[in-house]
This record gives sequence, structure tokens and C-alpha cells, in this order.
Amino acid sequence: MPTTPQPDPAALDTAPHTRPDRATTRALRDADPALRAAYRLCRRITRRHDPAIYALVQLMPSVLRPACWALWAAVTALDDLADAADVAPAERAARVETWTRALGHDLAAGTSTDPVRYALVDMAGRWRLDLTSLQGAMAQTRDDAHGLRFADWAAWRAWCNKEVVPWVEQVRHLFEQAGAPMTLRLDRQADYERFVDGAQLTDVLTDLSTDLAQGLLLLPQEALESFPGAETDLLQGRWSPPVAALITELTALARRRVTRPAMTRGMHPGAAIVLDAAAGLMRAQLDAIEAAGPTLLQRAPRPSLLTRLRVLAPARLRSSLAWSLTPLTVPGPRRPAATANLLSPVVDDTGLRPPPPHLSGARPPQIDADRMPAHVAVIMDGNGRWAEQHNLQRSEGHRAGTAAVREIVYGALEIGLRHLTLYAFSTENWKRDAEEITAILAILQSELDEAPLRDLNVRQRWAGWPDKLPEDLVDSLRREEHRTRARTGLTLTVCINYGGRDEITRTAAALAQAARDGDVDPHLVGEDDFIRHLPHPDMPDVDLLWRTGNEQRTSNFLPWHATYAELYFTPGYWPDMDRRDLWKAITEYSRRQRRHGAVPGPVASRETTACLLTPELPARH
Ligand code: FPP
Repeated sequence: MPTTPQPDPAALDTAPHTRPDRATTRALRDADPALRAAYRLCRRITRRHDPAIYALVQLMPSVLRPACWALWAAVTALDDLADAADVAPAERAARVETWTRALGHDLAAGTSTDPVRYALVDMAGRWRLDLTSLQGAMAQTRDDAHGLRFADWAAWRAWCNKEVVPWVEQVRHLFEQAGAPMTLRLDRQADYERFVDGAQLTDVLTDLSTDLAQGLLLLPQEALESFPGAETDLLQGRWSPPVAALITELTALARRRVTRPAMTRGMHPGAAIVLDAAAGLMRAQLDAIEAAGPTLLQRAPRPSLLTRLRVLAPARLRSSLAWSLTPLTVPGPRRPAATANLLSPVVDDTGLRPPPPHLSGARPPQIDADRMPAHVAVIMDGNGRWAEQHNLQRSEGHRAGTAAVREIVYGALEIGLRHLTLYAFSTENWKRDAEEITAILAILQSELDEAPLRDLNVRQRWAGWPDKLPEDLVDSLRREEHRTRARTGLTLTVCINYGGRDEITRTAAALAQAARDGDVDPHLVGEDDFIRHLPHPDMPDVDLLWRTGNEQRTSNFLPWHATYAELYFTPGYWPDMDRRDLWKAITEYSRRQRRHGAVPGPVASRETTACLLTPELPARH
């Protein structure tokens, strides 16, 4: 255990009403008095700053509450530093930065002299949480200190995603670690994002008076411009017809966003009760905002105690029943300080290893950074023909193909590729005979069970849809995706039950739903809106599309992402490929000239050069 300093007792509020409650006592049996006091302080901060959040935390299992208080107290501490009215913006930003850096050191040391950070460090170690994802949120809070302007809803949402979502995600991880996952069905991701958006909008409307007092108006210009005069009136603290109309519109929008009955379907009942109660409280808050009228510009409205009780009392009853029926994992003792540097890219307890070298000792070629593809996608063709060539069953060809997959992943890591996407099973592959389908799916399952990439710096993802796939396979894919989510090396996306047209159709449907919900204006839909509704919005365009097996087709593979991809077709069968073939493909790509529809200049950069099937042909688009 660390011998580093303990929190300064003077910093801890030791007022008599802060005696530990049952939850704290039970969850922190092994904690020293300073740590218990730190958690009690976090609890008090949560209750004082946000009674609604405090009430929601009370709906969680008692073992999880101290960790939630620590998270909320940390958010509050950072917000207070960023919002301090009497301090210059640069100084406020510097204070947030100092706090964030101190947390990094504290996490490495396993303790802190600051009570809120001490509780945060403890809960991260106790629940094996990776706090890396909070770095971006903290940086955003630091930047907020300089004031905020949003041109449109997209910019506003990006802010919300960066600043709020990582904290919410930590709560989701907590539930998972406790064995009661707040699992979201893959097709409910958009619902979840809107829900978080709605929560943030409710918060902004609630705090309108406080923000305006500081000259802040945290709403997008796009929304303000629809009500001419509203912005000036608001900034001058004047309640006028355009302000009233704006508030009515935004309240209705927030209400639609937080009302997502399908979002909690299939979730653990305890987690669903917490989220449903959160939605209920937010709707009550929005009622209070609507009823406030001009007083909204003077103070934050609050729903009455009775209204809150109507939401919370039944939720308390139902949640205690749900949790009493759920065996939860209670965390073991804290992780020792030596492995607790959670702001560094440590991925898991076992650490990561580099890929094994190629048997021949071959090393990757040096490719200039501006000539490296960011994303290589591969159609692994020729398994069946390879098997025939070797007088084997087709399934043996697929099995041999897995060795090539490992090799290509090793090669991708060695050459420093960021994204590799593999076409393993298409929506059209269901037309094959049942025996072959079963064999391919069984091979994929055994690869996941064996997990040969487990200790590599690879973030594994799955593209495709669960319908028709075996449940165990879907569970394993999701588990692997979750386990490796914080890895920073290669992003490996395996496409299983994937079809490009299917992806586009579903994305269009999600966009249509967003338009129906009023989240997107159909007259202004652009490519960015489409990308935001793709299953993996962060997947970059494919730079190089490689197909083995002597066929020259793209076969419904990544049609959205591969529009400008360089195409590369090779004759060999997939099982015969190894990392040197990937390096050859990348070397070939690095020599091609890409123009993306523009006229080539004498020294064209990758961003301005065009796509050619072969370098000799003129670009035709
Ligand atoms: C195409 O060859 C290949 C497939 C449909 C399956 C690919 C699957 C694997 C390589 C399994 C391992 C994958 C991972 C990600 C571990 P084909 O059957 O169409 O060959 P043919 O054209 O010669 O008949």
C-alpha cells in the first residue's frame, strides 16, 4: 500500500450530520478513516449541489453509491473551478488544468491530499476503472472557462459528447463491474445519445439564470436565430415573446429527447429503473421550467417535493426489490499504486506485449507518414479454393484463414496502421450451405474464445447486425469490444453479418427517425449528419481496399466509406497471405497518386490528390 501523504484532515468537513450511512460503511469496510471522510464529503457535495442526482444515486445498489458520489463531486469541483465568477478566465482554465494534472499524479500514487481526488483515486482502483476517457472531458471543462459559443446543434452536441458522455460512461462501467450491466442494445445507441443530449439541454435551461448572470448563453446560434430578438433579450435579462417562444420550443425538444421508452428494454431491471427515474425527474424539471415563466431568468426552477416524490417513491421500492434479487460483485481491495496510473495508456492488469516477429525476421518498410493509409479494408477471398487446392474441406480453408488474420494484424501493428477492417461474413454469405455457415461461425467463435490478440494493443470492434447470429457469438463480440475499448494501437473492425447496403439502409432509417424527432432538419441534412448516424461514426474513410483471391469486385463491402478507396486486387488465396503481403499493399498504395476529384498539382498532398484505380489512368468521377 502507498506510503504517500493522506488527505489534509482540515480539508474534510467533519460536521456531525456527516456520519457514515449504511451504504458507505458496507462498501468501504476496509477503508481508513480519512478515506471514509473523503467519501462522506463527496456525498455531501452531491446532495448539496444536485439533490436530483443524489436521489438517483440512492436508487443504485449501496455498494456503488460511494463511487458515484466521488464521480459527481469531481465533476462539481471542476465545474466550480471553471465557473468561479470572481476569477479571470485564464486563471480559471489554469486551475482546472492543475486539478487534472494533480489527478494524474494522484492516480499514479494511489492516494491524494485532496479529499475529492482521494475518493476518486480509491474508487478507480477499487472498481478497476480506466479514467483515461475523462481526460478529454476535463480538457473541455478547462476550455469552457474561456466562454462558449455554438454555431449549430451539431457543435452543441459535440460539446455535450465531449464533456458529459465520458462521465456517464464511467457510471455505466461501474454497473458493469458490479455485474449488472447497463447494456444498450446496439440499435439503441442513438436513443442513448439523444437521452444524454436531452439531459444536458434540461440542465442548460435550468441554469439559465446563473449562466446569464455570467454573460453565458449555452445554446446554439441555430436555435436562437429561429426566434429573432430572443438572444439580445436573454442577455439583457428581459422576458419577451420571442424568449417565451424559444423556451417553449426548447423545453419540448428536451422532453422528446429524454423520453426514450425503448432505450432501457433488455437492460437489467435495476439499471432500467435508475434511467427511467432519471427521465421522470427530468420531465418534472421541464414542467417546472415551463411553469416558471419570467422567473426562469431570476432563479433555477425546481419541481415541488411532492412531484419528485411521485417519481422517486415507486422507483425506490422497485429498485430495492430489483437489487435485492441481484447478486452483485463487490470489489476487492484497492489496486496497488504501482499499477494505478490510470491516466497513462495502461490497458489492463496484464499489460500489453508487442506482436511476435515474422519467422523470417522481416521488418516493415519505412513509409512516410503522409503516404501511410489511415484505413485498410480487406476482402479475405479464396479460402474455399485454397482448401480445394489442398484437397481439404472448405471449412479447413476458413480455419487456415484465421492464421492469416493473425499475421496481418501483427503486420498492421508493426507498420503502425491505425484502422484495419476485415470482411469475415457478409449478409449474402447466408446463401451458402448450412454446414459451411456453421463452420465459419464456429471458427469465429473459437477465435474469440482463444483470443490470440488478447495482449496486443488492438481495439477490437464488430460491424454488422445481431439478427440470425448465434447469441453466444454476439455476446463474445460485444465483450471483446468492451474489454479492448481503451486500447490505443490498431482499431480492428471485423465485419460479421455485415452488408454495405444494409448499413446504408439502417443509417437512413436512423436519420429519418432523427428528423421525425426534430433532431435533424431534413432540408439541411448533409453528409456529416449521415456519418453521425452510421453504426461506427468514427470509422474513417477507407484509403486502401484490398481483395485477395483473384476477383475484382467490392461485393457490398463498406460502400459509404470506400467511395474514394484505392483498389488493390491480388491473385493469391487468403490463407497464403502473411504480414509481408500487407506491407506490399501499403507500399503500393504509398506510390499512388490520389486526387479526390481535383486536378493534380506539382507536389500534391494526400488530402488534395485523387483516387485512381491505377496510376496511369485519368480520374473519372
Ligand atoms: C471468403 O472465401 C472467406 C469467407 C467468407 C470467410 C472469411 C472468414 C475467415 C477467414 C475466418 C477468420 C476470420 C477472423 C476475423 C478471425 P471464400 O469461401 O469465398 O473462398 P472461395 O472464393 O475460394 O470459395
